[in-house]
Amino acid sequence: MILPKTVVRAVIAGQRKLSNDVYELVFAAPEIARQAVPGQFVHVRVSEPDSADPLLRRPLSIADVDRQHNTVSVIYRVVGRGTARLAKLQAQENIDCLGPLGRGFTLRGERPLLIGGGMGIAPLQYLAKKLCPRPVEILLGGRTREEMFWQDMFASICQDIHITTDDGSLGQRGVAPDVLPDLLEQKSFDMIYCCGPHPMLVSVAKIAQGINIPCQVSLEEYMACGIGACLSCTCAAKDGSRKKICTDGPVFWAGEVI
Ligand code: FES
Repeated sequence: MILPKTVVRAVIAGQRKLSNDVYELVFAAPEIARQAVPGQFVHVRVSEPDSADPLLRRPLSIADVDRQHNTVSVIYRVVGRGTARLAKLQAQENIDCLGPLGRGFTLRGERPLLIGGGMGIAPLQYLAKKLCPRPVEILLGGRTREEMFWQDMFASICQDIHITTDDGSLGQRGVAPDVLPDLLEQKSFDMIYCCGPHPMLVSVAKIAQGINIPCQVSLEEYMACGIGACLSCTCAAKDGSRKKICTDGPVFWAGEVI
């Protein structure tokens, strides 16, 4: 379901560094907090208030929502000038934010498995919370132990946490799809929610399709407008149509796009 979107001038409640180049920004945005569902994103203006440079907003997944305090959290990696400026913002400063945008996850099934890779893990925190009290398990994939700060976030939400790292410094060496077949054989999940790099989404979707477990994937794409107007984010769907990831997604049933 696509809900109305709002542009807000949000007041920053706080910002913290989670790792070398990853930050969590929390801002007060009652209109967005009230409407947001897991898997949706916000489009954040990153230029100085009196400047249009950088021109384009940045799409950031909603990582968490606190309805009691009307705050929204986003987790992002500093990758350029825009996100570098975001990282300098401090409590009580303002950000211009459009959202919530896009189609989020459909909460279905009683035994969910969440799978996240890299920064694709960010939206799974809010999803895991909304899935409770179902017994949620999560499979996290990252490059190194240092990237696995996510583990603490999910410790109090998930019944079990499975980890892979590329270098084997934490959990099993390899990538998340490597351990997935065994995990699915050991436990009886009835829904997979997946977000991360495209090759991981493809591998997970194929494994899930092979044993008939419904799977939802969240696609990551460059998004110029975020509202379906510019066509910068389209992808090919299995039915031959083209989907706009910003409005038809970012969450799709795997069979729609993979
Ligand atoms: Fe413009 Fe999707 S970002 S149409």
